[in-house]
Amino acid sequence: VEPLRVAIAGLGTVGAGVIRLIDANGELIARRAGRPIEIVAVSARDRAKDRGVDIARFDWVDDFTALAQHPRADVVVELVGGSDGPALALARATLKAGRSFVTANKAMIAHHGLELAQAAEAGDAALKFEAAVAGGIPVIKGLREGAAANEIERVYGILNGTCNFILSRMEAEGRDFAEVLAEAQAKGFAEADPGFDIDGVDAAHKLSILASLAFGTQPAFADVAATGIRHVIAADIAEAAALGYRVRLVGIAEADSHGLFQRVHPHLVPLDHPLAHVTGATNAVVAEGNFVGRLFFQGAGAGDGPTASAVVADLIDIARGEFGPPYAMPAASLLAGTPADTGER
Ligand code: HSE
Repeated sequence: VEPLRVAIAGLGTVGAGVIRLIDANGELIARRAGRPIEIVAVSARDRAKDRGVDIARFDWVDDFTALAQHPRADVVVELVGGSDGPALALARATLKAGRSFVTANKAMIAHHGLELAQAAEAGDAALKFEAAVAGGIPVIKGLREGAAANEIERVYGILNGTCNFILSRMEAEGRDFAEVLAEAQAKGFAEADPGFDIDGVDAAHKLSILASLAFGTQPAFADVAATGIRHVIAADIAEAAALGYRVRLVGIAEADSHGLFQRVHPHLVPLDHPLAHVTGATNAVVAEGNFVGRLFFQGAGAGDGPTASAVVADLIDIARGEFGPPYAMPAASLLAGTPADTGER
């Protein structure tokens, strides 16, 4: 059998994690996928950097976007990041060439998901982004496949590990925001621009992706109303605790007869709700379906192992030939979900 041949753009934490995962579990993956998954080419900014994995066995390509034309690659995995620029150029070129594309890039999918889904469908290729939302938690698969027969009433959750880490620490230790932010950055899961985390932008990217899958609507990042946690102080958290609540940055998408509403902001979560017990750099997503009831997904929303696990799960689907339209239905069937601003809510 022919292996599925993969080119990887971006060898940061997640890229190195993908290499390590395929090295460690390659045989098991081949049995599950029906054929081996083989990395054939890589590209990154700095070839010489020590990543703790041997990359000398792969073709080295200087320019990210050239991977789209690599003579041996069936699939390109993009782990460069950024909503536009080289990541988007690579996505467009890969899909245009009729090759499949796997990404962990929530910003790019939030902004350009519809266009890329159309390109994937036109080329009979896969566009997969499990790793873009909630790291290792298979929430895209959960909504797209597991809950596919349901009308989803609401999807919401803790989608940013950095904010949840900060809020948990502020609560446990009574410390102030700025102090804990520095610690979160040192842990390595904050975005390059931590404003994306603490102002709710990263959570909004992920929410807009979940909302499209849950409601069959065109992704509309610009319609997410986002407020972050910059102004939460230790006293807010203490006061909430005295009343039986915890402060969590929650993203919520819900549809009613007026349309789809998407918002991210600090919430008071009652202690008897499972989201109140999600602490540290963890993510959790709740989806409510009309037949399945309430689903609760929890796990690591960032980090090399969990995110690599999601990337390779997508590669396994592609190796099996099991992929359909990225948003569970043809892009042309996705509805415009957001109503004109009625001033409500
Ligand atoms: N900065 C993100 C977070 C990383 O803190 O959740 C994963 O998307």
